[in-house]
Amino acid sequence: MKNEYIPHPAVIESIQTESFDTRTFKLVFEDKTLAESFNYKPGQFVQVSLLGVGEAPISITSSPSDRGFVELTIRAAGKLTRAIHQVKQGDRIYIRGPYGNSFPVDEVAGKDLYFIAGGIGLPPLRSVIKSVFDRRGDFGKIKILYGAKTPNELCFKEEIKVWKQIDNTEVLLTVDEPDDRWQGNIGVVTKLWDKMDLAVPNGTDMVLPNGVAYVCGPPIMIKFVIEKLLTSGFKDEDIYITLERYMKCGIGKCGHCNIADMFVCIDGPVFTYDHLKKFPDKEGAMT
Ligand SMILES: Cc1cc2nc3c(=O)[nH]c(=O)nc-3n(C[C@H](O)[C@H](O)[C@H](O)COP(=O)(O)OP(=O)(O)OC[C@H]3O[C@@H](n4cnc5c(N)ncnc54)[C@H](O)[C@@H]3O)c2cc1C
Ligand code: FES
Repeated sequence: MKNEYIPHPAVIESIQTESFDTRTFKLVFEDKTLAESFNYKPGQFVQVSLLGVGEAPISITSSPSDRGFVELTIRAAGKLTRAIHQVKQGDRIYIRGPYGNSFPVDEVAGKDLYFIAGGIGLPPLRSVIKSVFDRRGDFGKIKILYGAKTPNELCFKEEIKVWKQIDNTEVLLTVDEPDDRWQGNIGVVTKLWDKMDLAVPNGTDMVLPNGVAYVCGPPIMIKFVIEKLLTSGFKDEDIYITLERYMKCGIGKCGHCNIADMFVCIDGPVFTYDHLKKFPDKEGAMT
């Protein structure tokens, strides 16, 4: 019988420093068959471990079309993630998964896509961003709004320059605390709203955006972004949010990630606002 808790060894092929506390690890499973057959959807996560240290859920940041490797962007937040930041190219870490549900891609063909991220919230969205860029012609306009505390804390700086060149795509960046070289926007991510071409008045009615929003970031950011999206005419069911919860098993067995009658590890981590707002304590669910 297959033991779902047994993780698979993966070798670190390369490490990209994103900021002072965040790195992107490119991993290749030691089992060549698994390396080639490993399939996942954007928004899913894996359980990552180091033997004798611990295990934690981490979103897959590569695209399902990236074959033969998996990328994870990890912020050194605690015991395990700080230890992972000590590993070197060629070292081994352990992975099980993929787990959880995913962001819609096929289902939103023809629509405008709005990605709104704060801080370490961009890595989970990068998987779906890369997936839609793989088939750019299938979607309307793409807007990516991304905020971080400082310019140094923005992830994927070089890749964002490439995204900005893609047809009918706009990437807007903002930081709370600029440095001397920063010439862009200053303030929280919702300050970028006026640049979104949303909420076009049509007589007395507002034209509803033909759009879908993907949101990931700290709880306080999520709260204000949802308010903005709703006042801009987005429907509850067109707002997708990915939630973080303390997890142990990742497979719906231990109950650690429970909210209301659901487990974030199997019913999420991606929820529509339509779904989230029905939780008895919706504010608590987003923290
Ligand atoms: C679905 C999902 C996807 C995720 N994706 C990502 C991802 O892509 N990248 C990523 O970096 N993270 C991601 N996370 C978050 C990550 O799983 C957590 O940060 C995880 O707890 C890190 O494990 P750790 O052992 O390093 O931290 P822990 O030791 O568990 O610490 C976690 C938090 O507790 C705080 N803490 C630790 N010790 C103490 C203490 N003694 N006193 C006070 N506070 C303390 C830390 O500051 C930290 O904020 C995701 C979480 C979920 C649920
Ligand atoms: S982490 Fe165990 S039930 Fe979700």
